[in-house]
This record gives sequence, structure tokens and C-alpha cells, in this order.
Amino acid sequence: METPEQRIKIAVQKTGRLTDHSIDLLERCGLKLTQSKDQLFLYGENMPIDLLLVRDDDIPGLVSEDVCDLGIVGLNVVEETRQRLLANGGEPRFRQVFELDFGHCRLAIAAPDGTGYSDLSSLNNQRIATSYVHILNDFLDENGIDAEAVYFSGAVEIAPKLGKAEFICDLVSTGGTLAANGLVEVETLLESEAVVIQTEERLSEAKQALVDRMLQRLDGVLQVRESKYIMLHAPRAALAEIRDLLPGSEAPTVMPLDGADDKVAVHAVCRENVFWETLENLKSAGASSLLVLPVEKMLA
Ligand code: PRP
Ligand code: ZN
Repeated sequence: METPEQRIKIAVQKTGRLTDHSIDLLERCGLKLTQSKDQLFLYGENMPIDLLLVRDDDIPGLVSEDVCDLGIVGLNVVEETRQRLLANGGEPRFRQVFELDFGHCRLAIAAPDGTGYSDLSSLNNQRIATSYVHILNDFLDENGIDAEAVYFSGAVEIAPKLGKAEFICDLVSTGGTLAANGLVEVETLLESEAVVIQTEERLSEAKQALVDRMLQRLDGVLQVRESKYIMLHAPRAALAEIRDLLPGSEAPTVMPLDGADDKVAVHAVCRENVFWETLENLKSAGASSLLVLPVEKMLA
């Protein structure tokens, strides 16, 4: 039995837009999880890996201090924490290892509907309520705008109604929160999605091996997400053309077909989604018996 020190910890958002996707992703890496009684942990049953369920804003700090070895969090939080640590003379001791293509949102400046806004200069001498003070100030500096960032820890969207600010700078995903509060977007500062971060602290050999193994599985899961296995029959004469039509595939396997000298079977892994149009084009080029299968696991 391993000691708690030999188990690795992955920080995951406790409740929010990333939670379900994050847990699902780790389960697809082969991790079987049970919830602890206090609901703060998801315990890994079949691997020495536990998930720590925390506020997303705390994740980069936990990984930086190696309380957790890995974390899944929005790029917006990663960037804000990085800039905050640097501004306070600290050092962000984490690095980004994967982009996950979920949790898409943007950090944007918005104003009450009807505010006269022409361009960035409209922000001069205005107050902007935000939880993202560092990213916002950086953006204002870069653009030579003299505006005041007013820190709000949450419910940023009500700041204009409270008379605390003329603008807000907050995350927008569906746009529902802005619309419900009569706010419209005027500038985008950052496009965000969920990313995996890894601590830069030195780990024991056993832990490092486990982290590497988990990252390799994550890489495999991310690669197969769009990948398809395609099988078809092709006239030998059309092989070159058909090969060119296969999306994102390296060296397909070409096999003889019993009793049909002028035809071959082609099998290929396509690293991109295979659309109906592609199948129709392959058919026009002479392909027949087309079959597209999802790829479940891949290990390079
Ligand atoms: C963000 C933001 C808004 C909401 C916008 O908060 O502060 O409240 O999402 O999403 P919408 O455009 O789909 O309405 P989030 O849920 O990320 O919570 P947090 O920033 O407090 O972690
Ligand atoms: Zn948050």
C-alpha cells in the first residue's frame, strides 16, 4: 500500500463550467473514482491518483506550491494568477501542458446597453469592475488607456447598477449573464479554454513517473477525440487520388482483395473528423464499401 505522499493529486474545479468535463476526461484516462465523505476529494480506486475539488481560482496556486501535482483550470485563471504572482515578486511554478478544447469563454469588457462607446479611448477616466485586475491593467497599459480597475470578487455584473463602475470586465461564455443585466460587450481581452497545468516543483521519481504516465494517457485521449478509423475498397487506378482525399492520415495500409485484382482494401487512421462530404468525394473517386469507426484508445 502506498503512503499518501506517494499518491499524486490533481486539482479540479469543485462546481462550475469545467467540473463535469474535467472528471469525464480523467475517467477516460482510465481512472476509477469514488467520492470522499467530506466531498473534498475524489479518491482514485485503481491508481494512486486523487482529485482535489476546489475553487478554480485556487488551482494555479495549489499547483505552483505543489499541494497538487497537476490541475485542470481555465486559461483566464492561469493568466491572472501568473501575472499576480509576478507583480507581487513571486514566481509562478507551474507550466501549461495541454489545451483541452472545452470550457471555451472570453474575458471581455462590457458596458450598460446604450453607453456611448466608440473605441478604446472611451474607457479613459472610467472605472471598470473586475476580478481580473492584473490582466485588465496589463491590457489598459498596453493600449495607453488611463482607466481605474475596481476589484470585485464576484457578481461583477451588478457593479454599474450599484454605481461602483461604468464598465465591467468579466468572463463571457453564452452571454446570458450580460444579457440578463442589460450589458453589451465592447472589447475582448483574452480567449480562454480549459488547460492542464503541471507543477515545476521537483517530484520524487515514483511520483514523476506517475505524472508522466497520466500525461501520456491524456495525450492519447486528446488525440483520439477527433480521430476516426476509415476502411474502404478502391480501384488500384484511383489509389493516389483516394489517398489525397483521406483527411489528416499518414501512410494508409493497402491490402489485396481476394478475387479482385483491380481492387484493394484501404485502412487509415484519420486525425480529423470524417464528414459526409469526404465520404461522398471518396465514392465519386471510385471508393466503395466505406466504413468509418471511432477510435477508442491510441498510444503513440
Ligand atoms: C462567469 C462570469 C459570469 C458567467 C458568464 O463566472 O463571472 O458570471 O460566468 O457566463 P455566461 O456568459 O454563460 O452567462 P463563472 O461561472 O466562471 O464563475 P467564477 O468566475 O466565479 O468561477
Ligand atoms: Zn472562479
